[in-house]
Amino acid sequence: MLKSSLRDNPYVQAPILQSVKTLLNNISLTQSYYPRGSNRATSQLKSLLKNHREWVKPIIDIKGFRHGYITAGATEGINLWRLSDQRPWQYITGDYQWPQMVSNDGIETDINNLDPDRVLYISNPSCIDGNYLSQEYIDKINEAGCPVIYDCTYVSSSCKHDLVVPEHTEQIMFSFSKGFGLIGQRCGLLYTKKIHKILEPLKTVECYNYLSINIINELINNFYVTQMYDDYKEEQTLLCDEHSLTLSDVYFIANSTDPYYEKRRRSGDTARLCLTDENTNDK
Ligand SMILES: Cc1ncc(COP(=O)(O)O)c(C=O)c1O
Repeated sequence: MLKSSLRDNPYVQAPILQSVKTLLNNISLTQSYYPRGSNRATSQLKSLLKNHREWVKPIIDIKGFRHGYITAGATEGINLWRLSDQRPWQYITGDYQWPQMVSNDGIETDINNLDPDRVLYISNPSCIDGNYLSQEYIDKINEAGCPVIYDCTYVSSSCKHDLVVPEHTEQIMFSFSKGFGLIGQRCGLLYTKKIHKILEPLKTVECYNYLSINIINELINNFYVTQMYDDYKEEQTLLCDEHSLTLSDVYFIANSTDPYYEKRRRSGDTARLCLTDENTNDK
């Protein structure tokens, strides 16, 4: 891998993996071709949510979040949150930009200056560097006492960890885009403490993507939650050694303070680099 491609790639995501391709080949389109109202989608979604809660448990326990929904990636959860929540909100410098790009009404802040009266959007593992937030960080969020929208998109590409949910978290987003290279399939799950005003009525009438249920089921039935990290850690560590980088808690993200990578810095002097390029894709 070229040093310049590490520096020039602004995106981070998993390589295309042969093992995931094989799984996708097992899914037939007609598996999800059934009528709305037959209750089949409802029972499939229920069983998926139950399995997914267990699947992520080695990292995060979402038992307080009673309501679950299938979404078109974490992005749909974010879009609907911004569309339906009129309260002022804040995000940390360098965190995922999309919520702000959608509504342009958030304020940028840092962990030591959280406003208790603003909803906090935050990603964990962090979009800033691919690392889990420290306990000290979570304590500061709890001390501020602000409501939290918790974006856990990088869970499934991250290492084993006890991911703590801040006390006032209202929604948690999960994605299957990153860890499995499934960006175009738009598979996500959203859990909420309160009924979701937009997704709940849609769920009641079975209006969601049935195929996504099959795709996610296939993934979680065949891979455990940290499997991608475990399977690729060695290879990625070698790549990091070769370029004097530090592997983050996400298997395709590396960090460096080398000024050569300055333009990839999202916050402070650490640059976020993607270890995936065309050559790392399994053919
Ligand atoms: C923190 C974070 N959340 C959400 C997303 C979007 O995820 P999805 O493809 O599931 O919509 C990304 C993708 O870059 C991300 O980095």
